[in-house]
Amino acid sequence: MSLDAAGEVVADVKVKIANLKKVFNPKSVVVVGASSEPAKVGYQVLNNIVKNGFKGKIYPVNKKSTEILGVPCFPSVTACPTDIDFAVIAVPAPMVEGVLKECAAKNVKGAVIITSGFSEIGKKKEEQALKDLADKHDIALLGPNTFGFVYTPSNLNASFGPQNVTAGKIAFISQSGALGISLMGWTMMEKIGLASVVSLGNKADIGEKELIEYFNDDPNVSVILIYMEGIKDGRQFMTTKIKKPVVILKSGTSTRGAQAAASHTGSLSGSDKIYTAAFNQLGMLRGRTFTQAFASACALSMPEPKGDDTLIITNGGGIGVSATDECDNAGLKLFEDHVWLEEKFRPTMPEFGSTKNPIDVTGGGGREGYQKAVRVALAEDRIHSVIVLYCETAVLDPVEVARAVVDEYNAVKRNKPLVVTMVGGERSRQAIQILNENQIPAMTEVREAVAGLKSLYQWKEICARPKEKVKTPEAPAKALEVIERVRKEGRTFLLEHESREVFEACGVPMPKWGFATSADEAVKIAEKTQMYPVAMKITSVDIIHKSDVGGVILNIKNADEMRAKFDQMMETVKKNAPNAKLLGVNLCQMVDGLQCIVGMNKDPQFGPAVMFGLGGIFVEVLKDVSFRIVPFGEGEAKRLIGEIKAKKLLDGYRGQGAHKESIIKTLLAVQKIAEHVKEVDINPLITNKDGSFAVDARIII
Ligand code: COA
Repeated sequence: MSLDAAGEVVADVKVKIANLKKVFNPKSVVVVGASSEPAKVGYQVLNNIVKNGFKGKIYPVNKKSTEILGVPCFPSVTACPTDIDFAVIAVPAPMVEGVLKECAAKNVKGAVIITSGFSEIGKKKEEQALKDLADKHDIALLGPNTFGFVYTPSNLNASFGPQNVTAGKIAFISQSGALGISLMGWTMMEKIGLASVVSLGNKADIGEKELIEYFNDDPNVSVILIYMEGIKDGRQFMTTKIKKPVVILKSGTSTRGAQAAASHTGSLSGSDKIYTAAFNQLGMLRGRTFTQAFASACALSMPEPKGDDTLIITNGGGIGVSATDECDNAGLKLFEDHVWLEEKFRPTMPEFGSTKNPIDVTGGGGREGYQKAVRVALAEDRIHSVIVLYCETAVLDPVEVARAVVDEYNAVKRNKPLVVTMVGGERSRQAIQILNENQIPAMTEVREAVAGLKSLYQWKEICARPKEKVKTPEAPAKALEVIERVRKEGRTFLLEHESREVFEACGVPMPKWGFATSADEAVKIAEKTQMYPVAMKITSVDIIHKSDVGGVILNIKNADEMRAKFDQMMETVKKNAPNAKLLGVNLCQMVDGLQCIVGMNKDPQFGPAVMFGLGGIFVEVLKDVSFRIVPFGEGEAKRLIGEIKAKKLLDGYRGQGAHKESIIKTLLAVQKIAEHVKEVDINPLITNKDGSFAVDARIII
């Protein structure tokens, strides 16, 4: 445990992560609440531990029985004969704290509390008491309100889920108990191998971050898949270190779904755009459906592709076209040298087969045809990844195809990524199981196979990103001075010229601008800075919607016009807003170009987040904006602007292009005041070949 500055006990996260080793690889396990009644959870958990071949000591605790399932029982945790590494607790909620105290006395370093009836029903104090105990004794605590976990490398099934989970390299972490258990069953049917299944429950202590960081260094795990509804502490989540591919299946992506998720596990689920930002920024991958998420997780156990060229092998034209579409949509590149393909693949197929990519060995290709085509695709260095498709026919058993693929793949020692889709009936399902059992990702949908392959390419790109160590940049003194002045005046918003002063101090690129209290002063500023044509806007703390009161005049071209328009504006505004105190006018050079929008606001879970998008209908109708969580560096800023759907407009379309360097500069600069303001709005930030310019600026504190 650690103590904070005030002497209070706080969790030592590093120690907790280290103690997870005792959870997954314990030498001794106590099961409190073990029962001889098969209908009870405590019986099922004990049964799963006993029947799955766990090699450590097992101590069931039960006050009435001397033996359950052939294992001697003890009346209490403290009565157990040795120290204990790990405890499963399945006693009614009021008893849990007392049991955890006993566990601490026995030096337990990891515990899973299966019992429900804590924060999910509003009993936050009771849950906090468990967390405090766990922190004090460095116990890595899973739950409460979980179905437990399975860890196949130590044959430990400390759950009341199904037995006989197929062993493999995927760690599957689920925030939903029911979905976790049912997907465990589904993976068993598909023969998808799992190293672990962990039910997170209420996440009083151990959550996604701790598990990811533990599995990072677990050689038995190669991919982490998380079903997530919401994150409790987004700031802490953003500190997660990623060393292995993490695939996230997140529900609550719609507004209604988010509300449903919030009432489900009591989790806080915010805007999906913010979650997307967080996942992208951390280098986590996203699955849209559970089959797609597992397809990605399976594919991510494959070798990294050495290049971009993908080859499709099929026995059916339709499915081949469908895979071509999916590859195209996913941005996967299909190998295109058709002359070379003809030379290499013609010998593998009948005359009427096609050697264009997709390679179509046809319905008459037979096992031999498939085998030869797969062999060539795996042997040739010019092909970097392979998609094998099979439509079930009466002439060729899919199991034969599966065996041929397995033989060829093993013969070349799994030298490049290979994914399979088999469409058909019972025999195809059997073939899929054979492939999955042999760690070749196989699915019933083309879309899933392609999504799996795409994940491999995404992970390769993530690994190649230069590491950026970023921390929130400091606010310049001048910016803080302005903000403080406004705060002292009791205002919650900055006037435009004040916002401009702050932005300028931070390094946000500005058009020529000025603030004038008279027509003469306006002319002087415009001439001195060669500002014409100029936009003039009224400045008053009492006026929010300037154009409604005649407080905006655009395109003022010279001194005479400036004087006339100044007087005209003062007169009109006084008439329309007689009680407003007019402080002067804001002058800003007129700028042409593409309208973008940069914003920053505070998300309840993740804190300050910066938004970027194109202005106008792109933001209003299409909501084509993307976010990043503060702090982020130049690489992330680049990825942020490359993420919007209308990114082609930024690259230059019909003569209009963007000045990306200055957009990036803006995205980095606004972060300087992230901790000091509530909301920032640069709308529009106009960009053209010469630069980007914050044409309108608004800050709320
Ligand atoms: N020390 C040792 N044993 C104790 C005990 C204690 N302090 N308190 C109770 N027990 C024993 C009981 O005597 C009983 O054994 P028995 O069958 O031999 O009498 C056993 O522990 C279980 O207690 P019981 O009172 O019968 O509870 P239960 O089995 O009906 O329910 C839970 C216990 C934990 C399963 C239940 O409270 C619960 O939370 N269920 C929901 C679990 C869930 O769905 N989790 C989330 C999944 S996603």
